[in-house]
Amino acid sequence: MSAALLKHWDRLDRHADRLQQGSLADLCRQPDRVRKFSRVLDRLHFVFARQRIDDAVLAALLELARESDLQHQFQALMNGHQVNSTESRAALHSALRFGGATTDGALAARDEALSVRERMEEMTAELVASNVEHIVSVGIGGSDLGPRLVVDALQEYHDGRFRVHFIGNVDGSGAHRLLPTLDPARTAVILVSKSFTTQETQLNGRILREWLGDDSRFYAVTAKPHAAVEAGVAPSRILPMWDWVGGRYSLWSAVGWSIRLALGSERWDALLDGAAAVDEHALNTPLEDNLPVLHGLLAIWNRNFLGYRTQAILPYDERLGLLPDHLQQVVMESLGKSVRHDGTPVAYDTVPVLWGGTGTSSQHSFFQALHQGTEVVPADFIGVVVPDHRHVDNHQALLANLLAQTEALATGSDSPDPHRCYPGGRPSSLILLERLDPRSLGMLLAMYEHSVYVQSVVWGINAFDQWGVELGKRLANELLPALRGEGQAGDPISREMVSLMRAMASSH
Ligand code: F6P
Repeated sequence: MSAALLKHWDRLDRHADRLQQGSLADLCRQPDRVRKFSRVLDRLHFVFARQRIDDAVLAALLELARESDLQHQFQALMNGHQVNSTESRAALHSALRFGGATTDGALAARDEALSVRERMEEMTAELVASNVEHIVSVGIGGSDLGPRLVVDALQEYHDGRFRVHFIGNVDGSGAHRLLPTLDPARTAVILVSKSFTTQETQLNGRILREWLGDDSRFYAVTAKPHAAVEAGVAPSRILPMWDWVGGRYSLWSAVGWSIRLALGSERWDALLDGAAAVDEHALNTPLEDNLPVLHGLLAIWNRNFLGYRTQAILPYDERLGLLPDHLQQVVMESLGKSVRHDGTPVAYDTVPVLWGGTGTSSQHSFFQALHQGTEVVPADFIGVVVPDHRHVDNHQALLANLLAQTEALATGSDSPDPHRCYPGGRPSSLILLERLDPRSLGMLLAMYEHSVYVQSVVWGINAFDQWGVELGKRLANELLPALRGEGQAGDPISREMVSLMRAMASSH
């Protein structure tokens, strides 16, 4: 860390000591709190009045952002610089959204994306004209979680032409349960795999292809079209993607074809437009009013200065039930690093453990620990003000619960009985959407993506590689022959476990 950065870091450390001596409840009672500590973009409100901060902390965090050269770093990202240093790649997901933030360096990428989008529309038209009713998207990680979330969240916005299903896990139960409910003659399968080597997707793809029995409805989305062709997929049924799109940032590419098929073209465009609006905002808005910058800085404040080890994502909307899963990949695969770009170890903590669930259901499971456990868990509460149903009483109760929880967590309540005492002091942010529609969901997801980038820049780590997942993949491939009875595992414990599993299996 440079001496200048260290100076800001020390200053923030001293602020943390100071604020930890006072109470969050007192901070929250200060006048003007919401005006000072909330920002709005379009109809997305980010309210961080219940974070353990004051004016001085916010100013010091913004100094840290300036010293980290965040504004130039956003330009580098969206201009196609090789921000993925270990793989010498750009990360141009913003170019896929076709907004005004597409800078000169990204024009070629945008043109390629535009031509794939046209091809995607032609292929969609063919499917629409066919007798296909069901789409099965086969992929895992970034080739699954984002599209699965968006298709699920926006059910009220489906145009009804297709029903979309997903298979991700290598566990054969997914195919076992889904396939009997579908007619292969009325189903198309999209195999989504950037690398076209992922074990889970290859195995599930094989099952689906055999089940389909007709390759004319078998499609692939991949950055390795040659591998798909070699595997027998017709070039006319392959949609390309590129090395410059990270898997977990790829739902905006042809990886999201399933979304397009579920929503129709106008709503797919609205999703991209929402994300593009956040790209422009991130690139052009001064740091102090920049939502992803503020969100990212607060994550750093909670992690590095207040020392919180986990972060909860709490959507108060059942439709966003898959958001924690998607964000786990976006945040933890991006920021789960302990060396800097140059390979030197970081001297500070990086990503917290991210987890969550929907309100109000979670209130009746893990919220007890949030209120009275020994671990303080900062939380993002996400609320939608206007519902897409007519059960007004339920919706008002949902919003009342959301507010009640943020208040109770921050402020607490005293009691002479220690069992009935709520310590408070538990910070949260509130992200409010007017509605959950394609545009606002695009904004929300892009906001998190750019917040992750902000954190990676300040920490000096690469947000776009994921070397940590490779060792397990290699070991699984080495263990597979042993499980089939062809050779022995190298590791002594794994060797005994393989014997145990084989013995258990053979007793059936
Ligand atoms: O195992 C991690 C990972 O490489 C993710 O980063 C990626 O989104 C996922 O696997 C799927 O990869 P692919 O799209 O290449 O099949």
